[in-house]
Amino acid sequence: MRSFTRSNRRIRKEWQDSFTVGIEELDVQHRTLLYLINETGDLADAQNTAKSATFTALNAMILYAENHFRTEEDYFERYTYPEHCQQKEEHEAFVDSVFSMAQELDKESALSLGSIILFLEDWYTDRVPGADQEYKQFLSIKIADEAKVVHI
Ligand SMILES: [Fe+2]
Repeated sequence: MRSFTRSNRRIRKEWQDSFTVGIEELDVQHRTLLYLINETGDLADAQNTAKSATFTALNAMILYAENHFRTEEDYFERYTYPEHCQQKEEHEAFVDSVFSMAQELDKESALSLGSIILFLEDWYTDRVPGADQEYKQFLSIKIADEAKVVHI
């Protein structure tokens, strides 16, 4: 659900400890992704922001998301996560969707930046506290097992 302040501007989504996936590298990336989505949203909300600045922020967020997905997929491959292929497909679908939206925006179509921000916020809420939690236990067991082998 969308949150607004009294002046009808967005409320920045905040990181919650329950979002953690138990791997510091991925948690840092998830926090940074949230920061970049919030920054893009703030630029979109500001009346006097040049469209190019928001577009640049949106592209930076997409590139960061791609890098994050590669990091996650490296973990999936290393520990043979059974849902690796599905996760990879979902990552690719997200990047394709957001790049398409960004291109539409650049063509001055009817698509609004606000609707892209809403899409990103909904995606983050579904993804990080949702789908990404599914690999948390699997990877934590694998990493703990690996640590035991190293110490034998
Ligand atoms: Fe993630």
